[in-house]
Amino acid sequence: MAEDVLPKPAGPVAEPPAPACLADYAERARAVLPPEVWDYIDGGSGAEITLAANRRALDRVAVLPRVLRGVPTPRTETRLLGAPSALPVAVAPIAYQRLVHPDGELALAAAAAAAGVPYLASTLGSVPIEQVAKAGGSVWFQLYWLRDRGLVTDLLDRAHAAGCTALTVTVDVPVLGRRLRDVRNAFAVPPHVVAANLPAGRDDLAHTAMPGVSAIATHTHAVFAPALTWDDLDWLRGCTALPLVVKGILDPRDAVLAVAAGADAVVVSNHGGRQLDGAPATAAVLPEVVAAVADRCEVLMDSGIRGGMDVLRALALGANGVLVGRPMLWALAVGGQAGAEAALTLLADEFRDALALTGCADPAAARELSTRTVD
Ligand code: FNR
Ligand code: LAC
Repeated sequence: MAEDVLPKPAGPVAEPPAPACLADYAERARAVLPPEVWDYIDGGSGAEITLAANRRALDRVAVLPRVLRGVPTPRTETRLLGAPSALPVAVAPIAYQRLVHPDGELALAAAAAAAGVPYLASTLGSVPIEQVAKAGGSVWFQLYWLRDRGLVTDLLDRAHAAGCTALTVTVDVPVLGRRLRDVRNAFAVPPHVVAANLPAGRDDLAHTAMPGVSAIATHTHAVFAPALTWDDLDWLRGCTALPLVVKGILDPRDAVLAVAAGADAVVVSNHGGRQLDGAPATAAVLPEVVAAVADRCEVLMDSGIRGGMDVLRALALGANGVLVGRPMLWALAVGGQAGAEAALTLLADEFRDALALTGCADPAAARELSTRTVD
């Protein structure tokens, strides 16, 4: 028998191939995370209609490539809130990052710094803002407005002192959306993961597990101010000279009010389908918001961005940039800082290819592309 048909001796176990797209990190993250943590990250509210709609709407945005425009290697750099960014991308604010990796926020902020993109640090971070700001490059503090106004001013003072370069206020969480996976799992953040920006030892700020309910929801109801108004936004504008970003806008009328209140950017967001189930996909309303603000502030968008082509789609619909949420957590879960850096490199490569394939020399050219909604 010829030697080449004999079975080969078993060699070392093959390394799994490197992720070829951000979705490849999802399967790997799911394999390493406890199921209830995966559900908290992956899930949306209600029947998850909005969660699914985000992806469907992005998939239906077709971009008309331009040709013969003599573009060698496109440049991916842009400016966000007046500051340089390596990509029209920022890492979305995400609570409790130590749920997925012991280095949590420190690793993801450092990865964003290495990639040259802003990192949004959540009020509900599991590492204090001072440490995150040291690990990161451009760190934007994300404020969840707490019932206790004294705590809000403390958080703002700390964010300023830590050197954060922008302030983002999230306005789509008057109450937490009804996340059925978390209710069914009675999900509670484990004791080793804490809301590190909130004062320790106060019962009214504690996160407690209870059967049959989501402890995230109970905590939010207890701690977040439920009835904010545009006057509160005026007050916030008066508290900071930093660029102010209002995250969680869907109605163009609210975008106009945000401009009037002095916002430097709005984020068209449905919180990744985690708040109002029945809200529109962000790609569906983005052009209306862009038209309504008419260049008076920047328009960012998030909810469903999963690759470089989605970044291009958002730009072609008129956005200045996007936030990326869950894919960053998948990569953090899989490989810590190195994993998140690799995911951001992949996203940059994909975006550069998308620019090249549409004849765009840079992100500004992508905003001039035409789109069609297709089935
Ligand atoms: C979030 N999001 C969020 N937003 C915010 O303003 N503050 C926060 O603390 C959090 N926390 C949070 C936790 C988890 C696990 C997820 C998945 C999301 C919303 C986030 O910033 C962003 O709007 C969405 O994640 C964007 O959608 P994609 O990219 O995840 O589809
Ligand atoms: C979430 C909150 C905490 O989406 O923003 O889970």
